[in-house]
Amino acid sequence: MSDVLELAGVSLVRGGKTLLDEIDWQVNEGERWVVMGPNGAGKTTLLQLAGARLHPTRGVVGILDEVMGAVDVFDLRPRIGLASAALAAQVPDHETVLNVVVTASYGVTGRWREQYERLDERRAFRLLDAWGMSRFMNRPFGSLSEGERKRVQIARALMADPELLLLDEPAAGLDLAGREDLVQRLTEFARDPEAPAMVLVTHHLEEVPPGFTHALLLRDGVVVATGPIGDVLTEENLSAAFDIALKVSEENGRYSAVARA
Ligand SMILES: Nc1ncnc2c1ncn2[C@@H]1O[C@H](COP(=O)(O)OP(=O)(O)OP(=O)(O)O)[C@@H](O)[C@H]1O
Ligand SMILES: [Mg+2]
Repeated sequence: MSDVLELAGVSLVRGGKTLLDEIDWQVNEGERWVVMGPNGAGKTTLLQLAGARLHPTRGVVGILDEVMGAVDVFDLRPRIGLASAALAAQVPDHETVLNVVVTASYGVTGRWREQYERLDERRAFRLLDAWGMSRFMNRPFGSLSEGERKRVQIARALMADPELLLLDEPAAGLDLAGREDLVQRLTEFARDPEAPAMVLVTHHLEEVPPGFTHALLLRDGVVVATGPIGDVLTEENLSAAFDIALKVSEENGRYSAVARA
């Protein structure tokens, strides 16, 4: 078993449709992965598997040295930080920013327990501060802009000090400055050797933080390419994954792509 994530022959079938088909994938400690592919490719589904939110139909999913099916997922989930639009949608609008983060240590949204450890609140504050959101701590989550919400979600995902961090489209809906700010923060965070293994799902090459080490390209539930980022994010692979002839460029670890004229 690989130490962080190991998928072997994993398929997921829902409603007679094969959403993921025979996926083999290994994530090791210290690695920072990008998962890319068109709408409907199965990226979010893959992240749900990696986050112990879904069980495979076939194959073996190993997470943090545990095997899905042989472990209580409620023990496993706190060890995995997950930020996604689906999770954010579950947060009540009136919940304060600080509570959105602090409640993650209980794996719930909504403040159901009145007595929180002061330590937890301090940690939540420090995380908000690190992601530039501490001045919003008393604001209702529902009043935040999209970019502000994204940063709160990442702070929340980190609250339980996870060994694996899963980010599903953290830059979706951000304006150019917001995107660049987030890419910069993720770049710095990825550089920290203490930071957990990471998997970042995105549609856009421009959102790939420099220093990310590996990439997986998905199309129709099938892996198009996987491995070290420079080997995977090539014109040939990306054109195949997105089914369009692309011109891809890379400068100082920043990627971009446009259709070939
Ligand atoms: N319960 C389900 N039953 C049938 N099909 C499903 C189910 N859940 C998801 N799907 C389908 O599985 C496919 C993969 O969905 P998924 O959300 O993983 O894609 P994605 O790569 O994250 O796409 P996007 O880029 O749009 O977020 C989609 O075609 C979706 O409609
Ligand atoms: Mg998705």
